Amino acid sequence: MTTPLDSAPILEASGKKQSTQQERFEKVRTLVHSDSNSASKALALEVAEMIRARQAAGENLVLGLATGSTPVPFYRELIRLHEDEKLSFHNVTTFNLDEYYGLTQGHPESYYRFMRDQLFDHVDIPAEQINIPDGTVAMEAVYDHCLDYEQRIEQAGGLDLQILGIGRTGHIGFNEPGSSEDSITRMITLDRVTRQDAAADFMGVANVPRSAITMGVGTILKARRLVLMAWGGNKAEIVREAVEGEVTDQISASFLQDHDNATFLIDKAASTALTRFQFPWLVGTVDWDDRMRKRAVVWLSGKLQKPILKLVDEDYNESGTGELLASTSQEAYEVNISVFNHVQHTISGWPGGKRDADDTHRPERAFPFPKRVLVLSPEPADAFIGIGGTLERLKEQGHIVKLVFQTSGNLRVADGAALNFARVVLEMAEEESHANTNWKSQKEYANSIVEAIKEKGEFGIDPERVRKLKGLILRGEARDAASVCRMEYSESEFVDLPFYENGRYRRFQTTEDDVSLMNGVMNEFTPDIVFATGDAGDPSSVQAICFRAFEAAWNELSGAAWRRECNVWLYRGRDRPYEAHEIEMAVPMSPDQMDRKAESIRKFISIGDDDQNALIRNREAAATYDALGLAEYEAIEAFQKWKGNKAAK
Ligand code: F6R
Repeated sequence: MTTPLDSAPILEASGKKQSTQQERFEKVRTLVHSDSNSASKALALEVAEMIRARQAAGENLVLGLATGSTPVPFYRELIRLHEDEKLSFHNVTTFNLDEYYGLTQGHPESYYRFMRDQLFDHVDIPAEQINIPDGTVAMEAVYDHCLDYEQRIEQAGGLDLQILGIGRTGHIGFNEPGSSEDSITRMITLDRVTRQDAAADFMGVANVPRSAITMGVGTILKARRLVLMAWGGNKAEIVREAVEGEVTDQISASFLQDHDNATFLIDKAASTALTRFQFPWLVGTVDWDDRMRKRAVVWLSGKLQKPILKLVDEDYNESGTGELLASTSQEAYEVNISVFNHVQHTISGWPGGKRDADDTHRPERAFPFPKRVLVLSPEPADAFIGIGGTLERLKEQGHIVKLVFQTSGNLRVADGAALNFARVVLEMAEEESHANTNWKSQKEYANSIVEAIKEKGEFGIDPERVRKLKGLILRGEARDAASVCRMEYSESEFVDLPFYENGRYRRFQTTEDDVSLMNGVMNEFTPDIVFATGDAGDPSSVQAICFRAFEAAWNELSGAAWRRECNVWLYRGRDRPYEAHEIEMAVPMSPDQMDRKAESIRKFISIGDDDQNALIRNREAAATYDALGLAEYEAIEAFQKWKGNKAAK
């Protein structure tokens, strides 16, 4: 699906500011596409035109490139243009933004390796035209290496176009907070948040390098054109700060506001915090339907720190929402009551519907009862982080619950967990041999695990056998966690989607096999309710890929009778939590349930990731409801009805 904005040229930036009233808070041109694929394709097409125009003129094009998840779909499209439409890169010179310090070119997470895998090995760019900072230069040679990098950019004629991503610290390249506007290529210490974000790629934060060589902000700003891409809800807040906030060295992406040909190219999920989408009444006339009213009243209540039912006409008029009252010719009190009731009706301790009860105002229907509830967990811990409390309620209330772990999650498991297992087997073998039992094959197996882990080294790729073992270890933990939430052993299924088993982070792609597996799971179980997550995640995350596999299967099943009556509820795991106005079902949790949820998350020992932030988010949701004037709960798990669900009523 495309929005009209999808067709605006990207590289033809017309001055610094946005032009319409809606965009007046934005200090740098910001184009919002419906999704990352459409944006990446549009950009690749324009870059291809630039390359061809230079070819026609017998000239070179100098491209600055980025790594990470963000540019992956852009590179895929460039490769497609090369393969299907004969786009040649013989006249392209590239300069990469950065490289981790200490990683060799062959390291699976080095940016050198990334660029080869994602682009260079698939197009006809001459090797001598590729430039990437060298992460292996000796410490005393780093300074000269950086100066040389700067000079090489200049000798090539300067950067015609620099592609950028944005980190959650607001960094471009690896210019962490504190980087000055005129900084040049140099060694930098990575921020804690940046290292945490890279932890999954490196199988644990401890393995993430502490420093990197990066182009400076000044180097980047010298490029003639800049395009910063950002996808997914987790980038929404930092995009807003960079686009609408002050220019500050605390957010290096904000310096793009000072450039006269810079564009933020973002998808819908990354645009949600911009004023024009978050508070549209502040930038123009809006259509005051029920949703918009709820959104504005919840916002007003939060802004003035007044419960909804205490808002008065002046509060509306003085905060730019007077139009809301005028549009309904109602007084504040009437609007307050209607929104208050609306929010109150989202609260339900009966996530599967309440049997024999009047369900007019309940989020979920009373019938059928019991319901067949399918809970999808992209990585094993996701379901517990997102809906641990709800899971327990569904079980207690007698529904037929099936917990499907979409991927094995084996990439998250630390080597130590697999080694421990292998050593236990070896010790067992010793003991058994005393008892004269033949444990030869078990011993061989355990030794092969120990050897394989030794051989691949700290960052190497696990051979299939090690991945399999790690997956099984995580399975055990997932089952343990499920039992804390009152689930029986037989109620969990591990489907190990193939995209995950055959790939690595940032190299994942949904395949037809994934879709047909999900199709089979759903069609066999015929759910009345599905709980899913990943719809607003970084598109290359495991969660987003799992969601797309579910969505594609769901669409394939449009003729299935069960599907017409099935509701899909979205939950948020590690992603940006729902804001109060977005919540359509709020399931309260007692302190005891919170304790059990915490315990279920703690079961995931092998991934060393005790994500108790989930509990904080649940408590925050409850505090927000409380501040709106609703009942005061210990915690709340929040859900939204999926709009792609045609059966949603
Ligand atoms: C990568 C780079 C970084 C990333 C940023 C976002 O070369 O310079 O600034 O663009 O960390 O990373 P992803 O795209 O993985 O979210």
